[in-house]
Amino acid sequence: MKKTNITPFVKWAGGKRQLLPQIRERMPREYNNYYEPFIGGGAVLFELLPQKAVINDINIALVNAYRQICNKPEAFVQEVNRLDAEIWEDGKKYYYFLRENYNDKLMQEELDVELAALFVFINKHCFNGLCRVNGKGLFNVPYNNSRKASIDANSIYAISSYLKNVRILDGDFEVACDKAAKGDFVFIDSPYAPLNPTSFESYTKEGFDIESHRRLAALYDELTERGCYCMLTNHNTQLINELYGNKGYRLDVVDVKRFINSDASNRVGKEVIICNY
Ligand SMILES: C[S@@+](CC[C@H](N)C(=O)[O-])C[C@H]1O[C@@H](n2cnc3c(N)ncnc32)[C@H](O)[C@@H]1O
Repeated sequence: MKKTNITPFVKWAGGKRQLLPQIRERMPREYNNYYEPFIGGGAVLFELLPQKAVINDINIALVNAYRQICNKPEAFVQEVNRLDAEIWEDGKKYYYFLRENYNDKLMQEELDVELAALFVFINKHCFNGLCRVNGKGLFNVPYNNSRKASIDANSIYAISSYLKNVRILDGDFEVACDKAAKGDFVFIDSPYAPLNPTSFESYTKEGFDIESHRRLAALYDELTERGCYCMLTNHNTQLINELYGNKGYRLDVVDVKRFINSDASNRVGKEVIICNY
């Protein structure tokens, strides 16, 4: 598909936009199906626009937004524009009012176009585009004082037509890769392995703990045995080196700027890109 004006419709912690050149450089030349089991904001998907793709995320509100944009782009654009237009003079009050609506709807599992619009509005008006929830799964990020438009309608329509040929799943990464087979390309950008005990790593109430990283490494080995091309990115930590080192995989260390970090002195870091081919 031709890349027109498609850009991710949410800001996402760990978004891979800045690593795109390094990712592109390391892509397999040819592959069958594209799998992205931790889709997040979809920076890589929307850059590559593969013809046959399966995407997945455990964050049901995020997946609902992908599905609504795919199936009901006009209603989605209209609803987001309404939320933008009706912003109160006191933007902060309005944001907290919508955040409460959003959390209520999510708790009632009302996975509809209104929830998708609220999700995107809140994502664009919350601090640093974080998606952080409390122990009950309620979104709890404060307001960022922005009054900018939440979406670009043309990009939403282009995304919608692209997504018509994409399978959109909403579960665990392991299940999402069930059918990945020889010659398929699996791009894996899981939540980061922790750099330190206070680092941001809880995207959903389930979190992603050390055991999940071990489970993912086992899946990576299994996909390798199946003959899939796998590329995985993460922090360059001891755990990641233990899980993927000495297995014949290629581990490339690359520099990154970190945007979502309250400590300004800690904004340059190292990541690894791990390929099994
Ligand atoms: C680092 S983000 C992906 C960022 C994405 N590559 C981008 O450019 O925006 C990791 C994603 O994994 C999702 N996630 C966490 N645990 C998961 C699980 N067990 N199965 C599938 N997705 C999961 C989170 O909801 C989050 O969206």
